Amino acid sequence: MTVQKIKENVYFVGAIHWDRRLFDELIPLPDGTSYNAYLIKGSEKTALIDTVDPTKEIELVKNLKNAGVKKLDYLISNHAEQDHSGVIGKIMELYPATKIVTNEKCKSFLKELLLIPEEKFTVIKDGDELSLGDKTLKFIFTPWVHWPETMVTYLIEDKILFSCDFFGSHYATSSLFAREGEKLLEDAKRYYAEIMMPFRNVIVKNIEKIADLNIDIIAPSHGPLYRKPSFIINAYKEWISDDVKNEVIIPYVSMHGSTEKMVEYFIDLLVDRGIEVKPFNLPRTDIGEFAMALVDAATIVIASPMVLAGAHPAAVYAAFLVNALRPKTKFISIIGSYGWGGRFIEQLKSLLSNLNAEFIEPVTVKGYPEEEDFKSLENLADKILSKHRELKIIP
Ligand code: FEO
Repeated sequence: MTVQKIKENVYFVGAIHWDRRLFDELIPLPDGTSYNAYLIKGSEKTALIDTVDPTKEIELVKNLKNAGVKKLDYLISNHAEQDHSGVIGKIMELYPATKIVTNEKCKSFLKELLLIPEEKFTVIKDGDELSLGDKTLKFIFTPWVHWPETMVTYLIEDKILFSCDFFGSHYATSSLFAREGEKLLEDAKRYYAEIMMPFRNVIVKNIEKIADLNIDIIAPSHGPLYRKPSFIINAYKEWISDDVKNEVIIPYVSMHGSTEKMVEYFIDLLVDRGIEVKPFNLPRTDIGEFAMALVDAATIVIASPMVLAGAHPAAVYAAFLVNALRPKTKFISIIGSYGWGGRFIEQLKSLLSNLNAEFIEPVTVKGYPEEEDFKSLENLADKILSKHRELKIIP
């Protein structure tokens, strides 16, 4: 994308990756993404905030040239991950006098990941300020959004918060500023679920840390900028809260239809009880949508058949993912069918040790489900209903 003015002498100089469909070889990107870098021209010094993914090096270099940057005094590195730091080497080549301004932890990551020499760095502490003349940058450490070294940079005079991954969205759009609505909220929630959710408790502290800033614009390093900061801050406050919704998520896989029959029957039971259900057929599902559903559901019920004396690998992957993403889910159970024996319940349970959730008695069926099995599923649905009632989340 071309250079775009945000405020007087503050510019977007990043790149849009319209057709990227996978991040970290793991996360689906149905709407592409962007790597936002920002140029700030103070009356005395010029600073670049973050760079872009190495695949977009040419665009950043072209944008800096088009913005008339002959001398770059500072490169602020908010986060060492390569989608923001990957072009630092090239910038150092083009502007050898530039100092990389970052925290101690980020410096060591950049030295290890990009082999940048020690003398290129200026290390700042939490709360430090850096003058560019008529503009001042303030650095605020916000660990674990997304790595331990992450920080945000606040441009005091223009009231812009450069938040890097924090508040971002994987959303490629030619609009510099967000159209705050359902679509963006969905992309931001997907992003939160995949990247931020494991660090929910730390994010609570980070939100408190920026609460007193007077913010006109939040400028993340993925997706559009927010002119209504409350839109994304309030969404985060809801996602990180302990509140859950009257929802049951059912990640399931079935080989010959027995487990699927259980799932179909179970969905109807839950719907009859006034509970919202989100089933995910694991071999076909978009893992990002599954992650997004995990953000606020009260209950997860994993459904799997037995394969080679254990759970189906698709169910193992789902359990592993749930455990890694650490949602605030309150209740968890397992249902499934088996042919002759095995230990798939114990196996799946052992994969969910990070969850602070109550385990509800599972329902297993030998072969195709029969009358008494349906009765067991009814009991499970009743138990979930009563648990949701205890939480007072049933409308
Ligand atoms: Fe967008 Fe953690 O990098």
